[in-house]
Amino acid sequence: MQPVLDYLKQNQKRFLAEFCDYLRFASVSAQPQHKDDLQACAEWLVKHCQQIGLSAKLCQTDGHPIVVAKTPREKNSRNPHYMVYGHYDVQPPEPLELWTTPPFEPRMAGRNLFARGSTDNKGQNFAHLKAVEAYLKTGTSLPCNLTFVIEGEEEVGSANLSKFLTSHRKELNCEAVVISDTGMPTPKHPALTCGLRGIIAFEITLHGPARDLHSGIFGGAVENPAMALARILGKVHDNHGHIQIPGFYDGVLPLSKYEREQNKRYPLTDAQLQKLVGSPQLFGERGFSATEQRSARPTFEINGLTSGYQGEGSKTIVPAWARAKITCRLVPNQKPAQIRKAVCAWLKQVCPPTVRLEIQAGHGAEAYHVSPESAPAQAALRALEKAFGCKPVLMREGGSIPIVNQFKNILGAESLLLGIGLPDDNAHSPNEKFNLDCFENGQRMSAYLWQELVKP
Ligand code: BES
Ligand code: MN
Repeated sequence: MQPVLDYLKQNQKRFLAEFCDYLRFASVSAQPQHKDDLQACAEWLVKHCQQIGLSAKLCQTDGHPIVVAKTPREKNSRNPHYMVYGHYDVQPPEPLELWTTPPFEPRMAGRNLFARGSTDNKGQNFAHLKAVEAYLKTGTSLPCNLTFVIEGEEEVGSANLSKFLTSHRKELNCEAVVISDTGMPTPKHPALTCGLRGIIAFEITLHGPARDLHSGIFGGAVENPAMALARILGKVHDNHGHIQIPGFYDGVLPLSKYEREQNKRYPLTDAQLQKLVGSPQLFGERGFSATEQRSARPTFEINGLTSGYQGEGSKTIVPAWARAKITCRLVPNQKPAQIRKAVCAWLKQVCPPTVRLEIQAGHGAEAYHVSPESAPAQAALRALEKAFGCKPVLMREGGSIPIVNQFKNILGAESLLLGIGLPDDNAHSPNEKFNLDCFENGQRMSAYLWQELVKP
């Protein structure tokens, strides 16, 4: 093991240069104009995997390609097989004017590396690649056979990876899937995540007049779709953050006493959280702590709201339409299809007849929960402690990784969620960054993990 650790220590500078190359690809999966950037990024990854000693290939899909890379298999090897999952696609970088330096020109500042995708998820999956490189380049035998699956559509719902899992079921059959695509509370609190929220996405459009109208000539006699949408969305929560849609909370698993006690020990106070997000005051469902509100309770969020004139100056119109992009986060036992039905039924009921309601369904996924008591989870906790030199915490996360459900349903494999992102990494926000201590400790965590997983 020592040669592996030494190799990691000695090569950090080169790793950083390579990491920057990875970050320069504008692999924005949601934006069609970046299709070639995703392809180029995937090709770069394949080459990089080959350089470090993996056998790697690019698998084309109906969307963006998937990178599959395997450690060399010894003949008749009885080593257990683990999959390492990650994604090379990133969220849109907009609004660009809020970035201190351009999102795809990596910038170092102290122990932080700024770029879109640095924490979510390029840096986190790169840490695993570097750990495996250390084994392969030092000739240290790897106690596990590994297959990296790094996809390009995580940020848009992983539609094509599901198909890929089904058609490659045998090849991908594994003990468990290792994923670093979540967070840890502070650099001194490594974490094993045992729950993720699910999600449903949809767009609501309200259609009003056949075209934008002069608001002086027609305003007052015609429904304004933006106003109608505001009225509807304003009814979703009561003043205490509780969602008013009938059936929304059906089946929601209440938090156990044990978990509520654990949540109290989460090392980020409400005051710290408020400072971090920069809101004038925190807001959330009454009766739950902020930690609970953002990990163990369901939500209804507007992600985008569009109507009328958005340019400079004023334009006096009644807009022809208004649109909201919505996602709801779901918790264990909420069924995405059922929640979607409840939301649609409620929208139809509250929508006035003065506008026409159009609902466009998007992706959806159930919440995920995994026991921290399994042998692989215990091994992961040991690896975290060795790598970070501090006791790991167990936590639930509010984000979603929809594909983990398919790993379970299609491959029969649970996921080990070993995230090394920080709450202030600005994932999905301007000035996203990745902490280089997390990067280094993450590499060591991966290196230890393959040893710990084969211990009885
Ligand atoms: N890495 C995140 C998921 C995540 C973030 C989990 C923070 C836990 C804590 C992932 O890349 C992501 O952003 N997923 C999307 C999924 C969606 C597009 C279906 C999300 O959660 O919004
Ligand atoms: Mn993300």
